[in-house]
Amino acid sequence: MIKRRSSILATLSVLTVLVSCSAKETAVVAPPAPVKTVANTAHRTPSIRPPALRNPSVNLSNSPFNSTKVSYSRIPTAAPYIAMTFDDGPHPVYTPRLLDMLRKRNIKATFYVVGTNVKRYPSIIRRIVAEGHEIGNHTVNHPNLSKMSNSAVRNELNGARDSIVAICGVKPRTMRPPYGALTTSQRSWIHSEYGYPTILWDVDPKDWQKPGASVVASRIVQGTRNGSIVLAHDIHQATVDAMPASLDGLLRKGFKFVTVSQLLSLGGTAQ
Ligand code: NI
Repeated sequence: MIKRRSSILATLSVLTVLVSCSAKETAVVAPPAPVKTVANTAHRTPSIRPPALRNPSVNLSNSPFNSTKVSYSRIPTAAPYIAMTFDDGPHPVYTPRLLDMLRKRNIKATFYVVGTNVKRYPSIIRRIVAEGHEIGNHTVNHPNLSKMSNSAVRNELNGARDSIVAICGVKPRTMRPPYGALTTSQRSWIHSEYGYPTILWDVDPKDWQKPGASVVASRIVQGTRNGSIVLAHDIHQATVDAMPASLDGLLRKGFKFVTVSQLLSLGGTAQ
């Protein structure tokens, strides 16, 4: 009796399997026949974007540069070289966006990074360096150095330098004081002790006041001349939004973008 019952059960289970298999088979839908398309040569959708403007690759020395002066806000030159500088980053969203814009145009810029953000976003620092941009020292905590003791200034510069070196293996070669605030004697001892010239700027779109992207762009395009050092901040969305118009406007005027060290290699006098 037990044997018979188990054989009935076995038969039932086989039937169940068969039923379920056949149910599955009927559920399979035959794939649709591939649709053949042909090119429509009669019409081509016009591109809404003109071809991107491209910065020429500039073969200027960037090491060692001819830095005999302690402080620069511009390099007097007849050649159309300029340096874009971006301060206070990196920012986790805006800096990568900016890097995409620069890469698309073959533009090399200089980033005055803050030590606290360097530690927070090491992969962005490595990307900046890998894509050929220059890194400058902008202290660890962004204080007003002109009101600080020499040893406190040293701590700020050493801390930022050490974080940058640890993360990307590159040593900054110039510094920019936060707010541009540095006394004459501080500029002098920093230059002799670190080899850093103090890098200020001659074009300031005051983007930190958030005047809007189009105002930032027109101030940059109007204010830049041969040898200019342009100040901007990659921690503000409107600044990065202003970059396509700023960069393309400058390229259209015939300017060639180089790093700060490359610009300094042209020589020049103290500002
Ligand atoms: Ni700053």
